[in-house]
Amino acid sequence: SQPLRLGIAGLGTVGTGVVKIVRQKANLLSMRAGRPIEITAVSARSRSKDRGININHYAWEDDPVVLAQRDDVDVFVELMGGSDGPAKAATEAAIAAGKDVVTANKALLAHHGQALALSAEEAGRVIRFEAAVAGGIPVIKALTEGLAGNEITRVMGVMNGTCNYILTRMQSAGLPYDVVFEEANQLGYLEADPTLDVGGIDAGHKLSLLASIAFGTQVDFGAVELEGIERITIQDIHHAADLGFRIKLLGVCQMTGRGLEQRMSPCLVPAESPLGQLEGGTNMCVLEGDMVEQIVLRGPGAGEGPTASAVMGDVMDIARGFRVSTFGMPAAELSAAKPAQAVTP
Ligand code: NDP
Ligand code: HSE
Repeated sequence: SQPLRLGIAGLGTVGTGVVKIVRQKANLLSMRAGRPIEITAVSARSRSKDRGININHYAWEDDPVVLAQRDDVDVFVELMGGSDGPAKAATEAAIAAGKDVVTANKALLAHHGQALALSAEEAGRVIRFEAAVAGGIPVIKALTEGLAGNEITRVMGVMNGTCNYILTRMQSAGLPYDVVFEEANQLGYLEADPTLDVGGIDAGHKLSLLASIAFGTQVDFGAVELEGIERITIQDIHHAADLGFRIKLLGVCQMTGRGLEQRMSPCLVPAESPLGQLEGGTNMCVLEGDMVEQIVLRGPGAGEGPTASAVMGDVMDIARGFRVSTFGMPAAELSAAKPAQAVTP
């Protein structure tokens, strides 16, 4: 049977993980998809950088836009990052060239995901992005597939591992924010622009995508009430603990009588609750629907293996012929849907 041919742009933490899975699990993937999964071409900024993987088997392109248009690429896998620039240009080029797209790029999607999904649909292609929200947790699949028969009433959770690490470490070690922030930096946890993490922006991007998927409203990152963790002090952490609470950067989206509420902010949660017990870089998504009441998904929200796992889940769906957009509804209908109204909690 015909192989599914991947072109991967971005060979950093996630891209390297994807290459390893495709190489090391070739038989398993082929058996499950009913066809081989192959990488034909790759792109990154530096061709000579040691990435711990052998990329000599693949064609090299300096320009991700050129990679995205290659005849021997069926699926463009965008793992560069950034809400605009090469990630956007190459994704648009891939769709125009008739490729399906898989991406982990929540910043790109929060700003342009809906327009990209519409272009893809008009071209008869799909764009899928499970890895963009909560890393290894298949939360988008849960919402769009398993819970498709539910009216979703609320989605909430911890969606940024870096912030959860900082807050839990302040709590467990009794260390102030600045010291733990520097620790997280040394451990390589922070995004290149740390404000994305500690300012709640990265988690807000993720929440805006989940809100659209859950409630069928247009993606509206601008409508997310955002507050980061930069101003949380060790005294706040201690006072919360004295009262039996933990402070978590918690995202909540729910439909209210006045419109869709989306907020990402530090919240008090009971110390003994599943959210209160969530440690380190782990993420948790709580999904509430009229038929299932509540489902809790907990798992690794970042890192090479978990994020590559989610990317491969999307690749496998495409290999199996699954043609539904990740937004869980036709993109044309999503674009005609209500915009998410900014509702102040
Ligand atoms: P990295 O910074 O580790 O890797 C980025 C890769 O993109 C590098 O290989 C870099 O090349 C390449 N790149 C950057 N700009 C260009 C360009 N102009 N042309 C070609 N290649 C380019 O990022 P991550 O792997 O961590 O993240 C990738 C995506 O996945 C991002 O959207 C991120 O938000 C998302 N994500 C990441 C998670 C994680 O845990 N890391 C979790 C969930 C999502 P070079 O190596 O040569 O510098
Ligand atoms: N910076 C993000 C986090 C990476 O810490 O959760 C995963 O999206």
